[in-house]
Amino acid sequence: MSTEPFTRPGVFTQLRRELYGEEQSSLSNTHTFIILGASGDLAKKKIYPTLWWLFRDGLLPDNTHFVGFARSDFTVEDIKAACLPYMKVTDKEGDAVSAFFHKNSYLSGRYDDGTSFEQLNRHLLSLPGGANANRVFYLALPPTIYNHVSSNIRNHCMSSKGWNRIIFEKPFGRDFQSSQDLSAHLFSLFREDQIYRIDHYLGKEMVQNLMVIRFGNRIFGPIWNRTSVASVVLTFKEPFGTEGRGGYFDDFGIIRDVMQNHLLQMLCLVAMEKPASTSPGDVRDEKVKVLKCIAPVAMSDVVLGQYVGDPAGKEHSKLGYLDDPTVPKDSCTPTFATAVLYVHNERWEGVPFILRCGKALNEPKAEVRVQFTDVPGDIFNGQCQRNELVVRVQPDQAIYLKMMTKRPGVNFSPEETELDLTYKSRYKDVKLPDAYERLILDVFCGNQMHFVRSDELREAWRIFTPLLHQIEREKRRPIPYTYGSRGPSEADDLTKRVGFRYEGTYKWVKPHAT
Ligand code: BG6
Repeated sequence: MSTEPFTRPGVFTQLRRELYGEEQSSLSNTHTFIILGASGDLAKKKIYPTLWWLFRDGLLPDNTHFVGFARSDFTVEDIKAACLPYMKVTDKEGDAVSAFFHKNSYLSGRYDDGTSFEQLNRHLLSLPGGANANRVFYLALPPTIYNHVSSNIRNHCMSSKGWNRIIFEKPFGRDFQSSQDLSAHLFSLFREDQIYRIDHYLGKEMVQNLMVIRFGNRIFGPIWNRTSVASVVLTFKEPFGTEGRGGYFDDFGIIRDVMQNHLLQMLCLVAMEKPASTSPGDVRDEKVKVLKCIAPVAMSDVVLGQYVGDPAGKEHSKLGYLDDPTVPKDSCTPTFATAVLYVHNERWEGVPFILRCGKALNEPKAEVRVQFTDVPGDIFNGQCQRNELVVRVQPDQAIYLKMMTKRPGVNFSPEETELDLTYKSRYKDVKLPDAYERLILDVFCGNQMHFVRSDELREAWRIFTPLLHQIEREKRRPIPYTYGSRGPSEADDLTKRVGFRYEGTYKWVKPHAT
């Protein structure tokens, strides 16, 4: 079957040229994308659908083949049936979907068995252009089998003519030592430039925008420091609990699940110095420098919470974390955490970076909020509130700057308002790609800027490991908070104590429809 209508030859080459220069676009044009764990949840809900969207939009290299590998005795038809509900296929795309699955094959085998991987390699070689193809391996697998699988890839499945890149999903260990062990194992097999550690927050539009906002504007640079910034708040909130995923979550908790990775990565992008260039090496060097200036988090700067059911709530919110059948009855795992970090360098000394995250809260929201200091020498009798720059990552991407203006009319008093760049209104017709789409494309292009380097990972674990060990050693009981609430009020007290000011007076007014 021809794939002509669905892949637009040249789009990828052109994009690659635009993004990464002439040099990279001359690489072998045959690629094989191997999904290990093809029958699992991540593969069906995220990886296959993402590959399909990239394929449909003509963004993949022209000759790309997809190979699933897992233990189950599946066929491509089984994979297709499992993935279709997540692929958002329109009525007109039937042929394109067939063309996509025509490029797919599937092999079953054992993860710890060299012979299975020899078979996989023979299959990869047998694909059209397979002998010269570049290979991307995606480990959509539980971490318990990373070691076996990565060794088997290295020993049996590396392309000898094309390049090889391996994508890993978190968790990258569960503390400093286990993460170091995993990194050491990977380094015995691969080079850093072959290892792509995904933190999908780095693929989000507004997270990527942080660097442009900071370094592409004159107005923020001079005030982006301890003289003008009072505090920085990084927030992740979800309005649902673990519901069924409690088994996995209970072993990790919210700090490992969200704070140590997604929020800390955002902190780096807010706090880092301007890199020498936008090359991945320069950017990641600056992120590491920020992390090195952060001391391990102290328990006195942390509030932990665990949600309980809301008897007056909707059906699903009546159940608390401990009511989840997959969670041990006496679990002390936090589902909410607020922690205050300090970056001990010349720019940020004394400025609190407040990281807040939780499940089963009042709203879905991820944002960065930079609160500026009071205006020195006030002439408005205390009527002015602090400026805040807010970058809302989700939902409804937006950047807005809370500021004072003269109340319109005959009076002369200040009033709170905002400069508002809401993406829905400003970029009406732009479809923003999903985080995984960008990141997988980056792997094809060989750009590691939005992936986590091993030294970043090491520093991230250094910052959180003493706290995590203390929580586990002391079996600290988190503070209960009601499903659908803002979390424990103690977290607001902590935030206030370290200097974030919440006035509660600001109201966002929907712009008048024109
Ligand atoms: C994942 C966490 O990394 O991020 C999940 O493991 C969380 O617990 C998810 O739900 C949130 O991602 P997003 O893109 O929906 O904000």
